[in-house]
Amino acid sequence: MSAVAATTGTSGATACGKTSGELRHVAIIMDGNGRWAKKRFLPRIAGHRKGIEAVRAVSRGAREQGIDVLTLYAFSSENWRRPAEEISDLMGLLRHFIQTDIDELDESNVRLRVIGDHNAFAPDLVALIDAAVERTSTNSGSTLVIGLNYGSQDEIVRAARKLAGRDPATIDAAALEAELDTGDLPPVDLLIRTSGEQRLSNFMLWQAAYAELLFVDTLWPDFGKAALAEAVATYNLRERRFGGL
Ligand code: IPE
Ligand code: IPE
Ligand code: MG
Repeated sequence: MSAVAATTGTSGATACGKTSGELRHVAIIMDGNGRWAKKRFLPRIAGHRKGIEAVRAVSRGAREQGIDVLTLYAFSSENWRRPAEEISDLMGLLRHFIQTDIDELDESNVRLRVIGDHNAFAPDLVALIDAAVERTSTNSGSTLVIGLNYGSQDEIVRAARKLAGRDPATIDAAALEAELDTGDLPPVDLLIRTSGEQRLSNFMLWQAAYAELLFVDTLWPDFGKAALAEAVATYNLRERRFGGL
């Protein structure tokens, strides 16, 4: 293992052997639902509802483009700060999405995964999510990861707790990475945030160490297959160096 790979763990080891053209993992901060609704004088829930259509379109588009892993940030560990009514609307939409879309995902050979501490959700929703994850766990076509009550800092703290008590000499980047919710998933190659905001909002801080970042002005409900294809085209023009030359 090279010195770089040794210090950066498996992300580095994987990344070092890659060329700019390979795109295995796309992660998206789906932002702008509220502003999409506001522009139309609609309640925020209308934007979230339209956002689910974008989720469908983009996950289909990712499959068509042969992207192995698509991660979507749906509810952050900070989103509990929103009004109770909006949180409850979001939970309702999540419940509905899983119920209506699980068949298509399963039939499309998609493995559904969740990152974040979704056990904080209502017990029936936790059971629904767990059943969907379990049902698709042996699918091998592609992976759809949904961030639910996800925050990178919380994820890293939970990983650190799992490592506590181990011989410090055995704790390296690869060991910590293995305990993250993304465990066996490849590092993020392309991280997209919609709606014009240019921040990470506690998303994939570890996994995006060498990701290409793309901030687009499009509001999430207006993002679709074409916008994803455009993002991939932009990615393909980027030169990734991973610290080398
Ligand atoms: C993203 O849209 C969806 C979630 C965070 C759940 P927002 O709800 O953040 O929309 P804006 O940022 O208010 O427009
Ligand atoms: C980030 O969007 C979280 C999700 C997309 C789930 P937010 O709209 O919550 O982020 P901030 O508050 O503007 O940083
Ligand atoms: Mg927002």
